[in-house]
Amino acid sequence: MRHLLSINDLSKQEAIDLLNLSAQMQEVNKRDVKKLPALNGRTVVNLFFEDSTRTRFSFELAAKRLSADVVNFTAKGSSVSKGESLKDTIGTLEAMGVDALIVRHHHSGAALTIANAPWSTSAVINAGDGTHEHPTQGLLDSLTIRQRLNGLDQGDLSGVRVLIVGDILHSRVARSNALLLRKLGAKVSYCGPSTLVPSASLGLVDEIYYDFDQALAQNFDVVMMLRIQAERMNSAFIPNAKEYSQLFGLTDSRFDSLSSKTLVMHPGPMNRGLEISSKAADSAQSTILEQVANGVAVRMAVLYRLLAQEGKA
Ligand code: CP
Repeated sequence: MRHLLSINDLSKQEAIDLLNLSAQMQEVNKRDVKKLPALNGRTVVNLFFEDSTRTRFSFELAAKRLSADVVNFTAKGSSVSKGESLKDTIGTLEAMGVDALIVRHHHSGAALTIANAPWSTSAVINAGDGTHEHPTQGLLDSLTIRQRLNGLDQGDLSGVRVLIVGDILHSRVARSNALLLRKLGAKVSYCGPSTLVPSASLGLVDEIYYDFDQALAQNFDVVMMLRIQAERMNSAFIPNAKEYSQLFGLTDSRFDSLSSKTLVMHPGPMNRGLEISSKAADSAQSTILEQVANGVAVRMAVLYRLLAQEGKA
């Protein structure tokens, strides 16, 4: 594996191996000295053309914990604002000596374009491309489910039932999760208003619900709420925030109706009071901050796999 652009780049065994390696990285992250020498002398560039808190900082921490040198590039404040192209931006950074590019971009396919381009020689990790994919988010969510639900540091997710709720249409997280969870043996359902759940999704998941209460009556093991992505909406997909919250929000009363064993997930950033109530988000069933912590371990595993192990297998 030279790049990680999509969950489709991973076989089931490769995905499980990455989760198992992530579990080992979690142990490193529990030590007083959270550092391995594995990527000493390697250079990783965080290339972010779109805003991020979790992904950007966790990739930076992950690379530093593996002893890599890290450079952070954000489009704001760079020569992109003077009209420099993607090709010239990457050529400029690579001329300084770079081993990996971690790419977040508002265009679906941007990371693939860079990985396939003759003008780039770096390993490329997709850190979220438009509405397409966010593979390391999928991996950290599966790691979280495997540990919280099964208490396991190995194996797949056979038999686990996951409901992903909300703005499926604009969500790269929904796609990466559906691909990975099903690869690992879980059953995945989408739920949301018909304007935000593409009918073509049926090829990607096992079931689609357009009524949240009907879906919740099926007692899923995991309810994963998604952010309403107002910045990607170019028309009126929902009548208004109040109606959306009433119909598709994980409100206090819906949260109270869940089994105490149901996990509540959200990739962040959250719109509290819109897609999820504070009671649900801050509950013991919520894994939201665990997902963030697991993101560092997963990104350490992916960087280690691509930069330290690739070619040695
Ligand atoms: N989940 C996620 O990708 O969050 P950020 O946009 O903060 O990176």
